[in-house]
Amino acid sequence: MAEWLKDAVFYEIYPQSFYDTNGDGIGDFEGIISKLDYIKDLGCNAIWMNPCFDSPFKDAGYDVRDYRKAAERYGSNEDLYRLFDEAHKRGMHVILDLVAGHTSEEHEWFKRSCLDEKNEYSDRYIWTDFWLSSAPGHLWIGGECERNGTYMLNFFKCQPALNYGFHEPKAAWQQGMDDPGPTATREAMTDVMRFWLSHGADGFRVDMADSLVKDDDEKKSSTCETWRRMFSVIRKEFPEAAFVSEWGNPGLAIGSAGFDMDFLLDHAGRGYKTLMRDEEGGKDRSYFKKDAGGDIRRFLTDYLKCLEETEGKGYISLISCNHDTPRAKATLTDEELKLAYAFIFTMPGVPFLYYGDEIGMRYIAGLKTKEGGYTRTGTRTPMQWSEGKNKGFSDADVDMLYLPVDASEGAPSVEKQEKDADSLLNTLKAVLRLRHEHKELRAEGGFEVICDGADSPFVYGREGLILAVNPSSKNLAADTGRVLKEKIFSIGSASAEGGRIVMGAGSFAVYRQA
Ligand code: GLC
Ligand code: CA
Repeated sequence: MAEWLKDAVFYEIYPQSFYDTNGDGIGDFEGIISKLDYIKDLGCNAIWMNPCFDSPFKDAGYDVRDYRKAAERYGSNEDLYRLFDEAHKRGMHVILDLVAGHTSEEHEWFKRSCLDEKNEYSDRYIWTDFWLSSAPGHLWIGGECERNGTYMLNFFKCQPALNYGFHEPKAAWQQGMDDPGPTATREAMTDVMRFWLSHGADGFRVDMADSLVKDDDEKKSSTCETWRRMFSVIRKEFPEAAFVSEWGNPGLAIGSAGFDMDFLLDHAGRGYKTLMRDEEGGKDRSYFKKDAGGDIRRFLTDYLKCLEETEGKGYISLISCNHDTPRAKATLTDEELKLAYAFIFTMPGVPFLYYGDEIGMRYIAGLKTKEGGYTRTGTRTPMQWSEGKNKGFSDADVDMLYLPVDASEGAPSVEKQEKDADSLLNTLKAVLRLRHEHKELRAEGGFEVICDGADSPFVYGREGLILAVNPSSKNLAADTGRVLKEKIFSIGSASAEGGRIVMGAGSFAVYRQA
């Protein structure tokens, strides 16, 4: 596994909305290059960039038309290579988004696959052999091309599914993983990885990583086998490359498919959701929402299981948010977010910060859908750098901007928060500094629950460090059973005597154990 992951903290960039340097109203590679020092200074030493490849952008670039070509609106391939270089000069790493399960319907492979005449790409996608045939549980499209069959979708209508085969082929048109079609798809996708890794990329975030083999079993055994086969080739060539999956099941993604990291996602019923966005049943019971009646054990039950399943094999990735998820600021205040971030960024594994979360950018409800964003559009608005024109995102006229900038009263900006020692931005910076300075807090450091938060602060151990958090509005005390020595970090008030810790309302603290 890549050594650099041990102390990695990622910053996710939605390139459209990050920083526009040529005044066309949309972010670009040059913009990212010019903000590398900002990202580094924040305490993030790695970047995940959402798809930045040639695309008709019907799903914000998750509909790739050419895997090997940078989208012109962001710059050229050379600009992207320069971004890798500039990041490396600063000791940073950059991973790209690999959309492995589907392409755009405008991809050359798909255009050839649509032809009636059999060719190299006929089996690159999943086709039935008759105009009305299909299989339940999937979406099929007919009537678009000359080929006698219908093709399967992986997500939107613009995203035909690549053919990695069926777990157990049942019809003549269904292929198994070892058939030539799926074998060639795996080779083609491995080649895409090879292309970017050999030009300086440091790895990939893999889109819908669990979606490859169709009608897979519960353990996703064929999809996992598909990843193992691709990794066995590419990892030999690029041993320092890192792979993180959009899967939401670390036990399978890391334990079986062989990813280095897997995201905990905002999925209903999962522990991660109960931290900041628990609105199930109409009542917010999020743990980090003050006095909402949250309970950290709802997170821990799920998390501890994931931790056990991945022990020694890879890292769980806790996220502040991502481009598909409502920003936590939708329901939490900056004071609540400080505690949530202090927790997320002192946990084991490799954490990810979504651009703009460092200043508590709002979720903008009610925006018209943009590039297939729908409700996700409100999480994708331009970064707020300054108090200047378009909040410093772009010089373009307002009506040319990719999405409207949040110009509402009190909208945060980097400029404002940098000047305020107590801001969310500066608090997060301090937390990240703490993480990098203490080996115990990095990816591999141990984790144990000391007090599970029932009528007490939540207290956890990371090797020789004891951490405690109390998001409620009451003082909470706990007997930790440890001897707490020096306090090395705190937000709000916290005191300790012997093994007893008293956490004030809305507080977080880190102690060294005697
Ligand atoms: C993933 C991406 C999402 C995209 C979808 C289809 O969930 O995160 O943004 O729309 O896959 O590629
Ligand atoms: Ca631009």
